[in-house]
Formats: sequence, structure tokens, C-alpha cells
Amino acid sequence: MNQVAVASDRKLSAEIAKRRTFAIISHPDAGKTTITEKVLLHGGAIQKAGTVKGKKSGQFARSDWMQMEKDRGISVTTSVMQFPYGGALVNLLDTPGHEDFSEDTYRTLTAVDSCLMVIDSAKGVEERTIKLMEVTRLRDTPILTFMNKCDRDIRDPMELLDEVEDVLNIRCAPISWPIGSGKGFKGVYHLLRDEIICYKSGLGHAVQESRIIKGLDNPELDKLMDGGADAFREEIELLKGASHEFDQAAFLAGELTPVVFGTALGNFGVDHMLDGLVKWAPAPQARATESRTVEASETPFTGFVFKIQANMDPMHRDRVAFLRVCSGRYEQSMKLHHVRLGKEVRIADAVTFMAGDRERAEEAFAGDIIGLHNHGTIQIGDTFTEGEKLKFTGIPNFAPELFRRILLRDPLKSKQLQKGLIQLSEEGAVQVFRPTKNNDLIVGAVGMLQFDVVVSRLKTEYKVEAVYESISVSTARWLTSDDPKALEEIKRKAPENIAIDGSDSLTYLAPTRVNLQLAQERHPKVEFRTTREH
Ligand code: G4P
Repeated sequence: MNQVAVASDRKLSAEIAKRRTFAIISHPDAGKTTITEKVLLHGGAIQKAGTVKGKKSGQFARSDWMQMEKDRGISVTTSVMQFPYGGALVNLLDTPGHEDFSEDTYRTLTAVDSCLMVIDSAKGVEERTIKLMEVTRLRDTPILTFMNKCDRDIRDPMELLDEVEDVLNIRCAPISWPIGSGKGFKGVYHLLRDEIICYKSGLGHAVQESRIIKGLDNPELDKLMDGGADAFREEIELLKGASHEFDQAAFLAGELTPVVFGTALGNFGVDHMLDGLVKWAPAPQARATESRTVEASETPFTGFVFKIQANMDPMHRDRVAFLRVCSGRYEQSMKLHHVRLGKEVRIADAVTFMAGDRERAEEAFAGDIIGLHNHGTIQIGDTFTEGEKLKFTGIPNFAPELFRRILLRDPLKSKQLQKGLIQLSEEGAVQVFRPTKNNDLIVGAVGMLQFDVVVSRLKTEYKVEAVYESISVSTARWLTSDDPKALEEIKRKAPENIAIDGSDSLTYLAPTRVNLQLAQERHPKVEFRTTREH
């Protein structure tokens, strides 16, 4: 290898090693938005808290991204945020929550190397978190945990750890431990640093300089705790005996989560979490393809599309495909191979996401996300390379949990409706099922908003007006089997439950969980899968 090649290889390795790509998983209202804002504050991407989102007014406040959003006329900007922290370059991928919860939320989790789980410490593990954790299990993604809202009266911290361990089946390694909570929240003891970091309320809008008491035995702790210090020391002794120590290998395997306590609103403890992310979370990982594993350090560019965002504004029909770079380097105006279409495409104007920097960055590396403008030729799961015919795996469809029958206002347009729905399903906006027994078209989604998006896009892009009707389907499973006879049998015995999805895969539509369970028992040779690969 000549010297130039060696130098460029070194640059590539250094760029990759410093990247941390993560997403936040949480139940609505646990504090994801608030912690995102504080993370950006620590990353220097915003100067003052309160600029990301004014939730009550339902409006985005003006921020640098907002302007970018306006400039580009498409809402891509809060989807990925890149900023430096502690020598690393962090990519935070937004996971749509609340009413915009959708399959994109799940799929975003397939494009990260680690996740931050935010838990409301007054409530504990909630339902949405359980679901999202299931998705992270598909790739055994390493999880960091932030126990939020310690400035409120929280549940017994030991009980919280037990709940995480029992319900989510992951071992907890406390990194910090709260000293009091609610009005009496005084800070945390950092077990690894053997330091007490003191909390002062009312400073959440900025990065605070905290007072630090070194050592658990420090008499300063007695002053701080006004008589309660010895009991706290005992509590820590007990904790050390009863909990797990941090173990890097177990963390990387997704079996153990480091836990920090704090308050996102008070911007306290967020830095402890970020320090852990930089120190422990993995740099961009190798990714499986159908033919081989691609290492992040390989020089040729590769990447896959995990999300397609359509603009809800009918004036802009542009869509952006979000591509996770898996190896190599993206440069502006680069020619890439669109593997599924077998075509070369020049990527002139990919969007990159350096928060606070409005200039279009010129390059991106493994672990980064770039946005490709898409006029309908890109689908979820598409792979882009510099020529090699690869197909990344692990970017699945997820079994929907909400179903509607879709009906046309104008019955003559059924061809357009089918075409529109199949295209929208290929793009990942929604899933479509055609029962084998009748001519229904059933739309399946993970989040309610997906239904509205589909009707609106059918109208603007395909000129069909459609409405929904409720239908008695509660869940779907993709059917596979090594034994073709077993598939024939289930088709014959349960024809009313069989449908074909947007990619012609065989599915089972179950009216109830009990029905699903019975079908599984009756057809042991058939696999009922909750995900389907693209
Ligand atoms: P989400 O994105 O996960 O849905 O949660 P978000 O950050 O919007 O937080 C939900 C509510 O919880 C917000 O209050 C927020 O201020 C509050 N919150 C977040 N972190 C903390 C914390 O550490 N301590 C306390 N006490 N509250 C916290 P809201 O009244 O619903 O909205 P807002 O008007 O305050 O934004």
C-alpha cells in the first residue's frame, strides 16, 4: 500500500473509532425530548435549553434545525443529530414517539449501535419501553439506562433495578445512585468515581458546574445529608453486595445495562450517561449481508436505507431516504451502486446532519446517517455500495398491531389504490394485506398516525380518495416452513385468516391472541414470525 493509501486508511479508522450512533427508547412522557435537548446542550449543538420543542404549544421553537428544515422545505432535521462530545462524534437518531410512533421507530433501532433507555423513576418500566426493548434484542444492542425525574418523588431505586431486571430481562449495573429524591434530592454518588456530585435545582437550562465531594467517607457528606450520611453509606454497602458490577463484555452483548440516576429537566446526570456512552458504547459495528459480514473499517462505501420520510406538505413531494453508512466514506457527488435496481446513481445532494452547522458536510463515515433525495426509486432495506452486489439483512418489517379495511370512495379506481398501497408499503409507510378469501385490502400499522399519512398520500400522490373501516384483526404473523405441505395445510384449514402482504409473502391475520395461539399449536411445523426481512 502506498503512503497516501495508508494515511487515508488511518483517517478512516480514526473517524470510525470516534463515532457513537445511538437512539433513545422510552415510554411517552418519560422525558425523551427533555433529555435530547440536554444531550445537545452538552454537545454544544444548542446554547440554551428551551430551543428544541415547545411541547404545550405543539410548535417547534426556532432552532438551527428549524431553519434548515425551512431552507430545505422538508422535515428531516430533527431526525438525526450529530455533535461532538468528550472526543467522540455522537449521532443521535430520533425515534418517533407519542402519536407519530410508527414502524420507523422500530426500524431506526436497527440502524444504531447502542440505545439509551429513559425511565420515569416515579413510574418504572412502562409498556412502550418493553416493546422497544424487544426490538433491540433482535441485534442484542447494548443498552444504557437513565433513571429520570429524580427531582420528583421516585420509587425505591433498588425496586426500580429489580423491575428492569425482571421485566426486561437485563442485568443492571448501577453507575450512580441517588441521594434522596423529590424536594430532598441532593445529588448522586458515582460508584466508579467514588464521588458525590451535588444537585442544585433551577439550573437545568445550562450545563452546570456541580459541587463534588470526593469519597463516600468524606465528612462533607455528613454536612450535606444532615444526619442521614451513615444510613446512605450503609445503603451503598448493601447495593454493592446486591447488584451487578459493570462488565463491558456483558454490556456489549446486551445482557447488562449501566444505570445512572438524574433529572433531565434539571440537566443533572445527563453527562454521566454521555460519559458512559463515549467510554463503553461500541463504535460502528460490523453488519451482516446475505453473502458476508461487512466490517465498518472496510474502505469501499456501503450502506442501507432504514427509513423513508415523506413530506406531509403536498407542495413538496420530495421524500428523503435515510441511509446508515456501514463502511467506507461518503463524499459529495459520489457515484453509488443501487444494488436492487442494478443501477449507478450519482448522489449529488445528500443531506448530512451536523447539528448547528448548516453547511452541507462534504463527507460521512461508517456510523453516520445521510439523507438521499428520493423520487420513488428507493425502498426500505435498499443497499448502496461502490459496485459490490451486497444486501444488508436485519432491516425487517414488524408485525403491525393496528388494522383497518381500506375502501375507495370511487370504486373505479381500485387499480390505482392497489398500486399506491403497494408502493407505500414498499417504502415502509404502512403494510398492506390482501386476504386470499375476498377482495378486501387491509392496511396494517404500528402507530395510528400511519393511517392518516396513507390516506393523505393516496390522495395527493395517487389521486385516490379512500376511507377506513374497522376490522376484526388484532395481529399478523408471517408464515414460513421447511415443509411446503405444512403451509398448504394451514392455507386449506384456515383460509379466512390467510393473506398475502405487499411483497407477496404469506401471512396469518389473527382476530385475537387466543386464535393465534391455537393456530400455532395446530400447525407446529409452521413458523409464525413477528418480523419479515425486506
Ligand atoms: P417525552 O419526549 O418522552 O414524551 O417526554 P418529555 O421530555 O416531553 O417530558 C414529559 C414531561 O416530563 C414534560 O412535562 C417534561 O417537562 C417533564 N420532565 C422531563 N424530565 C423531567 C425531570 O427530570 N423532572 C421533572 N420533574 N419533569 C421532567 P410537561 O408538563 O408534560 O411538558 P412541558 O410543558 O414541561 O414541556
